[in-house]
Amino acid sequence: MYYKEIPYPIVREGQHCPVDLYVKIRNDYRLFAAKGALITREHCRIFSRGNTTFYICSSDSESAEEFLKSLLTDLVTDPHLEPEAKADIIYSSSMRSIRQVFQGLNHKTLREIEKTSEFVVKLILSDKRVMNELVKVKSHAHFTYQHSVKVGIFGTCLAVHLFGEGNGDHNLQALSTALFLHDIGMTRVPRKILEKREPLSDMEHQIVMKHTVWGHDRLMNANYLTSQAASVVLFHHERCNGKGYPFGKTREDIPLYARICAIADTFETLTSSVSSSSPMTPFEALTVMQRDMAGAFDNRLFRAFVEMLGSC
Ligand SMILES: [Fe+2]
Ligand SMILES: [Fe+2]
Repeated sequence: MYYKEIPYPIVREGQHCPVDLYVKIRNDYRLFAAKGALITREHCRIFSRGNTTFYICSSDSESAEEFLKSLLTDLVTDPHLEPEAKADIIYSSSMRSIRQVFQGLNHKTLREIEKTSEFVVKLILSDKRVMNELVKVKSHAHFTYQHSVKVGIFGTCLAVHLFGEGNGDHNLQALSTALFLHDIGMTRVPRKILEKREPLSDMEHQIVMKHTVWGHDRLMNANYLTSQAASVVLFHHERCNGKGYPFGKTREDIPLYARICAIADTFETLTSSVSSSSPMTPFEALTVMQRDMAGAFDNRLFRAFVEMLGSC
């Protein structure tokens, strides 16, 4: 038997607790509220303090997972929940899914990412204010996980900004899933290279650059994503001026979704406080992308990205 962390509060005052909920005290899991118990103001007070982590027991995890899933859908339309709280919930839910998929890519973990992407797209479409909050979320989680989640979120926001709702030509959910997974090939890069603090040697660089092909091959061989979505993984380091990798393609030859990913990916890397000791502000990052990296990105998409951030 094991205990599973609940990534966000799942009960409100006056509701009946859907599962046995536990808190961890030292190394011991204690029952906080039993399944069916009425949630009181005191329970909510403890929840809202935000410094307590809640758990469900593995034997109860199926009903809890079902409940969590339905709750996510309810959150999308909940007019009483602040956009900031919605953004936090998306973020923690995405972090959980991305951690799982990086620890083992299989149909189950991929399904989780797909569900997360579906939820992210729905939420952004249903409440534009959430987008504003999402681009501000700060955290100091594991670099690769945080980076993947943020690129997933920035890229999805840009796609929604560009294509909006009801555009049948674009499958926003598939694109969003691909954005979250864009660096999945990094799982094959040796840890000592990923965690190296000093500049990488040429050979180490060559190895890191293989993550695009490794990720793409893995997804395609296992038939996990459509070829259009998998192309995001393969081409997200290509640049419109032909200076990218792995093939040095130029603008027209780089798929649209990969060009979207390139912008979100670069912006996240420049502004990240995890990957860099002196992260840039969003304004500085956009200036560098426009001035120092001139020609690298699709102009129309870059302008839309600046416009999107400006409206947040
Ligand atoms: Fe990458
Ligand atoms: Fe990346």
